[in-house]
Amino acid sequence: MQNIKVYQKSFIEYLEAFAVEKEPKNLYEPVNYILKLGGKRLRPVLTLMTTDIFGGNTKAALDAALSVEVFHNFSLIHDDIMDDAPLRRGKKTVHEKWDLNTGILSGDAMLILAYQLFENYEPDVFQALAQLFSKTALEVCEGQQYDIDFETRDDVTIPEYLKMIEYKTAVLVGAAMKMGTIVARASEDNQNAIYDFGRYLGIAFQLQDDYLDAFGNPETFGKQVGGDILENKKTYLYLKTLELGSSDEQSDLIQTISDNSISDEDKVSRVKTMFNNSGASDATQNAVKDYTNKAFRVLEALNISEDKKQLLRLFGEQLMNRRV
Ligand code: IPE
Ligand code: IPE
Ligand code: MG
Ligand code: MG
Ligand code: MG
Repeated sequence: MQNIKVYQKSFIEYLEAFAVEKEPKNLYEPVNYILKLGGKRLRPVLTLMTTDIFGGNTKAALDAALSVEVFHNFSLIHDDIMDDAPLRRGKKTVHEKWDLNTGILSGDAMLILAYQLFENYEPDVFQALAQLFSKTALEVCEGQQYDIDFETRDDVTIPEYLKMIEYKTAVLVGAAMKMGTIVARASEDNQNAIYDFGRYLGIAFQLQDDYLDAFGNPETFGKQVGGDILENKKTYLYLKTLELGSSDEQSDLIQTISDNSISDEDKVSRVKTMFNNSGASDATQNAVKDYTNKAFRVLEALNISEDKKQLLRLFGEQLMNRRV
């Protein structure tokens, strides 16, 4: 069993070799730009780790890991267009550095590149990976559409929000891990349990992402802090503030978000105060813990050794406490 840094290193070496310079430059440069901007590489590390845990060959899992990371980065390019985001990993987003059309087409190419990587597998593994990938990719689109639809709705409920983040974020974390078990040819029960573990972890991850979008350190977070507030995103922080606040506090939040006479900076700072005073910030942190614990409970039923479970728990704990 290897530690997380070792998986990360072997993945990054593989990624470097994948990112070749090709024509037309305006199509492939943005692909290499986003892939080499860094990022935490969580999903590919999870694919490699799961293959290892289930006795598979981690080298054989590199294409699946790369596919997941290429897909993730494609989704970020398009997400940044949809969210009007200026910054990604501390650098200009693709559509800001180039333009909108470049972001759309380079993203499309990446989605295809991600699929193409499965061609390196035996037919039965290829089929299982492609099937999971198609299902997951479509769910991510559904989640992203809900996210956008919710911007202009005032009646979004917490269950609707949870479904939205499950689709836009958590299913890919589950799929990244399940791909590792497919490559390792693990039993169907184990494949499904690991998927659920990843899915719960993914929900906790997106809850924490919402928290950090407001309360992260602008120096290290790498994204525009307060971006969700400015885009009127229906995050857990927002929905809990409405749920916990008095009717005055509720209308204050709605009014502040839609007030165009105050600066972005003032708006973000006022809304953050409301998130804190209402108890929504604490509630979000508790929800992160709850979903991480749900993931840990899935592990109990899994028939792998205790030290392997411990490795997965450690990963979950690190995610729960992340600041970037
Ligand atoms: C960002 O994902 C998009 C979300 C699902 C919140 P990450 O936080 O994993 O982004 P990188 O790859 O580490 O930059
Ligand atoms: C991202 O959600 C989900 C996908 C990219 C599919 P966010 O919009 O919250 O991610 P960030 O905050 O831009 O990374
Ligand atoms: Mg975004
Ligand atoms: Mg988004
Ligand atoms: Mg976010």
